[in-house]
Amino acid sequence: MSEQMSVKPAFSNRVLIWGEKQGRLGLPWQPADNSDFDVYKVWISEIMLQQTQLSTVLKRFDPFINLFPDVFSLASSKQESVVLAWSGLGFYRRAINLHEASKILCAQKNFKFPKKAADWVKLPGIGYSTAAAISAFTSSERIPILDINVVRVLSRHSLIVNPMSDVRSRAKLFRYAQIIMPHDPNLIPRYSQFIMDIGALICRKEKPLCSKCPVSSDCDAFQQQKVAKVKFRKSKVWKKIKFIWAIEFSGDMIILEYQRTGTLWGGLWTPKRYQEEIDLPKGASFLCSKEFPISNSILLLDIWLVKEISSFDSVKTKSFNLKSLDSIPVPNLLKEVLKEFKLLH
Ligand code: ADE
Repeated sequence: MSEQMSVKPAFSNRVLIWGEKQGRLGLPWQPADNSDFDVYKVWISEIMLQQTQLSTVLKRFDPFINLFPDVFSLASSKQESVVLAWSGLGFYRRAINLHEASKILCAQKNFKFPKKAADWVKLPGIGYSTAAAISAFTSSERIPILDINVVRVLSRHSLIVNPMSDVRSRAKLFRYAQIIMPHDPNLIPRYSQFIMDIGALICRKEKPLCSKCPVSSDCDAFQQQKVAKVKFRKSKVWKKIKFIWAIEFSGDMIILEYQRTGTLWGGLWTPKRYQEEIDLPKGASFLCSKEFPISNSILLLDIWLVKEISSFDSVKTKSFNLKSLDSIPVPNLLKEVLKEFKLLH
């Protein structure tokens, strides 16, 4: 990028023309014609898209909207039902935040959705990029969306080599994003969608499809054959590890599983672990989510409750009396959760 940060002619026009043919149109939260976006649907979709692929969101979106068709039905529902409707999407704290946010919005004297990203971002579970996307779609706010896909497009295009490494580079990228976006507010929703789509479909991290890219003719990284040089790593990478505990108990008995040493909580007895919600025993109900750092990762633990003990037959799985937990090596976290939910006195 030149020192003056030159405006690449018609960047946004090419994005818009490309998008009309190849962008993601017809998504269930987009208006069918040129009418306004449904703010509630856009909000839900952007939260779902935070950590979940579009293909999965497309399967889960309509069932969720059928259960909670508007913000009022969401706010007046039990947290448990919202979390249950979130099944298959994972990262359940998103559902909890969504529910909290709906209650905050509905508690206003005169209900209205925020109109600006700066207000959306005040709600639980909404960071800058999500707020910018919602506001760009629903209020045509001229605000750059800088999710990882867009960051990739713009940093390659302008050859900002390490866009996420420091505040200066990030600010530079932000300014660049502001300069090249359309000035006409009517174009903002479509441009915002299409620039995200170019990032996801064309300007891919690995094997980008530069020959199909509408903005490769003035993409600095492409023209200088430096596409691979643009790095996207944040200064510190926190790997997220997700797993699930199912606390199975009946009366005073709880089922625990012995964890081999060398694994997480090795040497301790913990509730049964599952990789996916779909593997949980029938009748499991969501209890809570816990998040905590371990070495260079963040552990995202979703805890479920199973009131009927399923059959168990392995040597490493045993039933224990809840009253004896103090005499068994179990993670403190388990005792804290049992106490928190009055399952242990
Ligand atoms: N990721 C976040 N928001 C998105 C959107 N509206 N379309 C596609 N991917 C997205």
